[in-house]
Amino acid sequence: MKIVCIGGGPAGLYFALLMKQLSPAHDITVVERNRPYDTFGWGVVFSDATMDNMRAWDRETADAIEVAFNHWDDIELHFKGRTIRSGGHGFVGIGRKKLLNILQARCEQLGVKLVFETEADSDADYPDADLVIASDGINSRIRQQHAAVFKPDIVTRPNRFIWLGTKKIYDAFTFLFEKTEHGWFQAHIYKFDDTTSTFIVECPEHVWKAHGLDAADQDQSIAFCEKLFAGNLRGEQLMTNARHLRGSAWLNFQRVTCEQWSLYNGRSHVVLMGDAVHTAHFAIGSGTKLALEDAIELTRQFKELGHTVDRIPQVLARYQQLRAVDVIRLQNAAWNAMEWFEVCGERYCDQLEPEQFMYSMLTRSQRISHENLRLRDKGWLEGFERWFDARSGLSAPHAVPPMFTPYTVRSVTLKNRVVVSPMAQYSCVDGMPADYHLVHLGARAMGGAGMVVAEMTCPSPDARITPGCPGLWNDAQAAGWKRIVDFVHRETDAMIAMQVGHAGAKGSTNAPWQGAGADQPLQSGNWPLIAASPVPYLDQGGAVPKAMDATDMARVTADFVRATRLAADAGFDWLELHCAHGYLLSSFISPLTNRRTDAYGGSLTNRLRYPLEVFAAVRAAWPGHLPMSVRISAHDWVDGGITPADAVQIARAFKAAGADLIDCSSGQVSAEQKPTYGRMYQTPFADRIRNEAGIATIAVGAISEADHVNSIIAAGRADLCAVARPHLANPAWMLTEAAKIGYTAAPWPKQYLTAKSQLESNIVRERAALTAAKVSA
Ligand SMILES: Cc1cc2nc3c(=O)[nH]c(=O)nc-3n(C[C@H](O)[C@H](O)[C@H](O)COP(=O)(O)OP(=O)(O)OC[C@H]3O[C@@H](n4cnc5c(N)ncnc54)[C@H](O)[C@@H]3O)c2cc1C
Ligand SMILES: Cc1cc2nc3c(=O)[nH]c(=O)nc-3n(C[C@H](O)[C@H](O)[C@H](O)COP(=O)(O)O)c2cc1C
Repeated sequence: MKIVCIGGGPAGLYFALLMKQLSPAHDITVVERNRPYDTFGWGVVFSDATMDNMRAWDRETADAIEVAFNHWDDIELHFKGRTIRSGGHGFVGIGRKKLLNILQARCEQLGVKLVFETEADSDADYPDADLVIASDGINSRIRQQHAAVFKPDIVTRPNRFIWLGTKKIYDAFTFLFEKTEHGWFQAHIYKFDDTTSTFIVECPEHVWKAHGLDAADQDQSIAFCEKLFAGNLRGEQLMTNARHLRGSAWLNFQRVTCEQWSLYNGRSHVVLMGDAVHTAHFAIGSGTKLALEDAIELTRQFKELGHTVDRIPQVLARYQQLRAVDVIRLQNAAWNAMEWFEVCGERYCDQLEPEQFMYSMLTRSQRISHENLRLRDKGWLEGFERWFDARSGLSAPHAVPPMFTPYTVRSVTLKNRVVVSPMAQYSCVDGMPADYHLVHLGARAMGGAGMVVAEMTCPSPDARITPGCPGLWNDAQAAGWKRIVDFVHRETDAMIAMQVGHAGAKGSTNAPWQGAGADQPLQSGNWPLIAASPVPYLDQGGAVPKAMDATDMARVTADFVRATRLAADAGFDWLELHCAHGYLLSSFISPLTNRRTDAYGGSLTNRLRYPLEVFAAVRAAWPGHLPMSVRISAHDWVDGGITPADAVQIARAFKAAGADLIDCSSGQVSAEQKPTYGRMYQTPFADRIRNEAGIATIAVGAISEADHVNSIIAAGRADLCAVARPHLANPAWMLTEAAKIGYTAAPWPKQYLTAKSQLESNIVRERAALTAAKVSA
């Protein structure tokens, strides 16, 4: 085959040499506009795993890189006058020039033609090539020329960064954070040869502009950075090797993805590779890894399917199919890490103490979890756990996992950070909690969670979602609840919360297993609905609620107050006001369901007015020593609906009104919603609200392992985690999770104690069997 690689970066060179190695008969040329020793940038890093992959494909190249690379394990943070270091992270750093020279030398050794100082204008310049590799980098001309086919999606990110070098040698991947009068800057630093370190400086656009850096040339920018980081540089200079770039050399990261990776131009097959087809932010340092692994995958496909011209279409199709999956996974992780650095100045730098800031930074990609950190550096993690224990009020900190630390709010202390999330059971008659609820809530209270939250309970008969929903509008119901509360207090060390809510437009419907199913109006016995505006939940077949007038509002507020008093009489420890999921109070908050033109509609302030009035009335009726949380939908997942930024404002308003925590759910406000599900998918809302609005939060949604809870709580993304469906599957979810992570100090009900050591040793035995099976495989 005749192959031309346009662009002699890591992607083009590595593919060229791998294919030449596959068969010397291939005629392969790499066309590069620069001279052999010209390059931008300093060092690149990739992980040990990438090296292993390269070793399997071309030992010579891997050996040469190994001799030249700098390996280090530690990450070091310099923040607020403190230095914190943790190990076990396994990076390889190498100068970009060195890497390219190794690849160039290997290409020459194998017989690849390297053509330098030649600009390729188009793939059409090489009409006799069977295959053109467009490895021409992030600004790929070939990709732009065929944009209609490749359909690139390019997102320009808000932060500014400059890629510098220094002769100061750092022996860890080092992060410096410095506060200025206009905001925070950070530096990402890593050594890549015996005399030089890469030094990338980054800040948000507004901070960059406020310092006049948009008007600064390279020398002025360097002088600024030297002064900013003088305390760390201690007289060492910063250097640029991007003199060829005009202007300031401060860049914005561009995230590139493409729908299609290859095409046929009538003469040759053309395929994108490396940064030309995808980019990954330097926050997880994997652009070079992706480029090298693209080259490996394309070679693998040629090797498996045949490296002849007729096989090219199948090979290119499989190359995209396989690589796209890995790439999207890495881009997602890189995206999380990148966003962390974009928002850290606003959200974490001022808010978090150095220990927790370090934890948050290490877990920024959300790919590294608590137990993963333990594997990397047990000593550091246990030190962090002891710090966290002390912050949680444990008198003798002894590395208790964050999930099992206590949490105190007002006069209530939860024994740990997990609450059983409220879950409607639709199993009442006339709103009466009965045996079913005693068993359901009682079992979960015995299961180890710090608190169980009763399902949404309604302050009047017409406030119910279904005829099976529980109520708190009369003394008999209060007595029914008291029986359950007393059981929980007498037999367990869990707390119990009441969630009060009014169904609004989503009332008078079936239980999920009845009639036409959940959200569908009852076949008979419907009651009139009220809401902020006459907007039905379901476009088709949904009942139209009446827009509430002043009389309705006064009546509903009084109903909520009565329910609150009855909840206090029943002895509940905690009250949650349900302002989420499209129910009555939520219908006021969301612009999708609030079309009012009076003082209760329009701006967010107006839309919050009625929910805040109810909150104030309820808070006044609820004992002052007991906590109150508010559940909100922090994202409507519909254009024009509530956004996470709005949710911060909503949280601030409830905080000002006296709420103790915001329970951060999302969606269910509009049937048009398009949520993005995934593990812990709503936790970013809890994180943002906690750290921007400065109020404690409860994270909820697809939190299904101890590792999730530990990571969320330890990083300061939330104060509590609500776990719902896993508790339906296993009432003793907490006790089971404790055993799974080897935490044996979680208290068990005395009647169940004989099961504890059996469960623990069974788990140990299963693990050992699994490990043995893996080893023998
Ligand atoms: C600040 C910063 C830090 C980074 N740090 C890391 C890191 O730590 N680890 C990591 O893995 N990655 C890092 N990267 C990303 C990494 O540099 C790229 O992902 C990687 O180089 C991609 O390789 P490539 O071969 O696809 O493209 P490139 O390396 O960009 O190579 C493309 C080549 O094509 C040439 N070219 C372009 N157009 C033409 C043309 N028309 N004719 C001829 N030649 C042409 C260019 O001169 C260039 O040599 C970083 C990037 C930045 C900006
Ligand atoms: C059967 C069921 C009933 C629910 N009922 C309520 C409820 O009454 N009040 C509420 O705020 N959320 C309710 N939810 C939402 C849960 O509290 C929780 O937010 C959601 O299930 C996501 O958590 P998970 O992934 O741990 O299940 C319910 C969820 C389920 C599965």
